[in-house]
Amino acid sequence: MKYYIGADLGTSSLKLLLVNDKGEIVNSVTEEYPLYFPEPAWSEQEPSDWINAFIKGVGRLLDGFDKSLVAGIGAGGQMHGLVALDKNDKPIRRAILWNDGRTWAETEYLNESIGEDKLSKYTANIAFAGFTAPKILWMRNNEPELFEQINKIMLPKDYLNYYLTGVHSCDYSDASGMLLLDVENKRWSDEMLDLCGVKKECMPKLFESFEVIGTVLPSVAKILGIGEIPVVAGAGDNAAAAIGTGTLFSGKGNISLGTSGTVFLPYDSFVSAENNSIHNFCHANGRYHLMGCILSAASCNKWFYENVLEQDDYNFEQSKISVEMLGNNHVYFLPYLMGERSPINDTSARGVFFGLRADTSRTDMVQAVLEGVAFAIKENVEIAKAMGVEINKFTVCGGGARSEIWLKILASVLNTTLKVPQTEEGPGYGGAMLAMVGTGVFDSVEECAQRFVSIKKSVQPDNEAVIKYEKRYKQFKRIYPALKNIFKENE
Ligand code: XUL
Repeated sequence: MKYYIGADLGTSSLKLLLVNDKGEIVNSVTEEYPLYFPEPAWSEQEPSDWINAFIKGVGRLLDGFDKSLVAGIGAGGQMHGLVALDKNDKPIRRAILWNDGRTWAETEYLNESIGEDKLSKYTANIAFAGFTAPKILWMRNNEPELFEQINKIMLPKDYLNYYLTGVHSCDYSDASGMLLLDVENKRWSDEMLDLCGVKKECMPKLFESFEVIGTVLPSVAKILGIGEIPVVAGAGDNAAAAIGTGTLFSGKGNISLGTSGTVFLPYDSFVSAENNSIHNFCHANGRYHLMGCILSAASCNKWFYENVLEQDDYNFEQSKISVEMLGNNHVYFLPYLMGERSPINDTSARGVFFGLRADTSRTDMVQAVLEGVAFAIKENVEIAKAMGVEINKFTVCGGGARSEIWLKILASVLNTTLKVPQTEEGPGYGGAMLAMVGTGVFDSVEECAQRFVSIKKSVQPDNEAVIKYEKRYKQFKRIYPALKNIFKENE
């Protein structure tokens, strides 16, 4: 019997799983850390908080287990975050996260002055405010003295891997979201590095997600109480979640309902993605994928329940929504609490309740939040379909997948069956699977997924709601364009 640690370095917390070589999760722990919003639309985290959470979490995770049986570590992590290190490998400033919208001017410069065509040629993608390259430009423009000190550019989970092994690494799936990678050819883009004023030596070494980057340093092994075991490169959280849900080949799709909401669509070989309103990235199994990302998904519920209703019983709030009520709500919600990424790419967009009446109830608004996120997910699915992507099977993961009624709404809005895997902790489970592939337990990610991933239940769309939601989705799509200019003026 051997154990593997799968880490999910998320936005609100670090989730750690202890998985045995049969694929069973034998323990799991969560360590929370703060998220800082020092200015409107800014979003930052302290890299040392991630490391401290890991040290504390591993202590709790392995309590009562034979530590000598832990044989590998793999992490999935929040994507796009800029961790800038100085020549002593110390973070120069707090990390600027994936849902930070401060870089609107740099994003506009990249898409309009450099041009989407060029960006697409260099990286297979266009600029979005959350991507890493606009953040580097923001530092150059706004914090020149800090920018001068940059000696290494890292992503969040790579900083954790650096702490563990002393190796500066990055895997292709996470690197894709930096807008610095030539995705098709899997190498750093010289043109993009030049544009950002970054030397190639500042970039970490690239790996496939399942490749071993090094072993845990003796000093760190001592702190963690484990051996000097191998660490794999790991993956961006969405690619790791796709591994954890068996979303590996064309035709499959995975929807993640976490802080963000994503639609992940694997591709067996590279395709060019027309207007790039959804992302075109490398997958963690050595192939490629398309992805739409909405910045606020389950975080909309958290905001509405905790900040507005001052209530932390999510089940209670949702328990009053019955299947008969689906499609009949008169309230709409635009989930743009942090601006929006795909497909509208607008940092000035904001959340909206629309259509309130004198008889609107709390439950109508709770329902509207769930529906607004589902509609925003649908917009991304529709774009992929319009590009000719065939999706025969959808899995769902993330905290939102635990809500029965939300799954029913999503299945009805998308008019598709949703499959819920045994474990909805996609990224951490995917991380542990990558560690098993990297250490030779399995020959490939595919072999591992075939052995481990199984479906717990299927959620069918409700036929009546499907028809009603089709109409409502058309209305939903008209609200943002009507408000777009006002959002801009209101910035
Ligand atoms: C994907 C994205 C988010 C983060 C969340 O492009 O920005 O899903 O990875 O952790």
